[in-house]
Amino acid sequence: MFQRFRQRRTDRETRLRYQETFLARGDFILPLFIAEGTGVNRPIPSMKDISRFSADNAIPYLRPLVAGGLRSVILFGIPDAKGLEQAYSDNGVVQQAIPRLKDAFPALEVIADVCICSYSADGQCYTGDNDRTCELLAKIAGSYARAGADMVAPSDMMDGRVSYIASELKRIGLSGVPIVSYAAKYASNFYGPFRDAADSAPKHSDRKGYQMNPANSAEALDEIRADIGEGASQIIIKPALPYLDILCRARSEFDVPLIGYNVSGEYAMVHALIEKGLASEDIIYETLVSIKRAGASRIISYHTPWALEKIDAYQSL
Ligand code: PBG
Repeated sequence: MFQRFRQRRTDRETRLRYQETFLARGDFILPLFIAEGTGVNRPIPSMKDISRFSADNAIPYLRPLVAGGLRSVILFGIPDAKGLEQAYSDNGVVQQAIPRLKDAFPALEVIADVCICSYSADGQCYTGDNDRTCELLAKIAGSYARAGADMVAPSDMMDGRVSYIASELKRIGLSGVPIVSYAAKYASNFYGPFRDAADSAPKHSDRKGYQMNPANSAEALDEIRADIGEGASQIIIKPALPYLDILCRARSEFDVPLIGYNVSGEYAMVHALIEKGLASEDIIYETLVSIKRAGASRIISYHTPWALEKIDAYQSL
């Protein structure tokens, strides 16, 4: 006697009847690089179809995506010149972009990534002093919240930053703005194209002194527990694909929404296979559905425009 699992796979209709995980358009969060100035549309050579837009150009880019079901974006500022003051200035590139995007698309959730690496001259996410960096991050998060960000997302991996940010939001009367923390962010080799795009590669050394060791997983749960304790209401795990086990462990351990960040190198890797003729674009669906299957409630991905247009073709008759 043996089980006949193949009965669930005989044809497309049957396979769909037994499918356990489905992607929804609302699962996706689109990363958006916002450049300073107006009229800017600077493609990122290492990332197919991804561009840096000034806020005015981001609006026509987003319009069809929002009409196609896009519900959420996460912003990364690309200042013209380096300088930490710009990161928390009310005239900063992100602070100026947020109200314009909210004006154009009132229902669109605008998340602001909080970090200093694209503003610091040495490309590091910290100043050399953990607590001093937390103070800076809190100022930055406060300025994004004042500009109207729907959520702030610290991605620096300093200890205690969620608690600093929560106090600052309270101090300015904006405790209602949720903190979504990159609690488990690994020192990964998959960030290369992003650093290219944001001009944020560390000029010396690396980020291993603050981002997590890829060999650890119990520590990720510790990090997540600490950030929830400090006031984070949602958690990002980053990157996604090499860390699906972390998503899965976090899903069974915690009840907060979990977001998987399908990072730039994962995007470029998949496109490299497609371009070389070694995979069809079905590989994109496989990638995305695996992140949700592992336990992500939502997915930050550069594949979002593709997903909005194509996922139905994979999950309906
Ligand atoms: C750092 C930051 C990184 C990414 C977003 N914010 C990683 C890093 O450079 O260490 C990477 C995102 C991606 O690769 O898509 N604040």
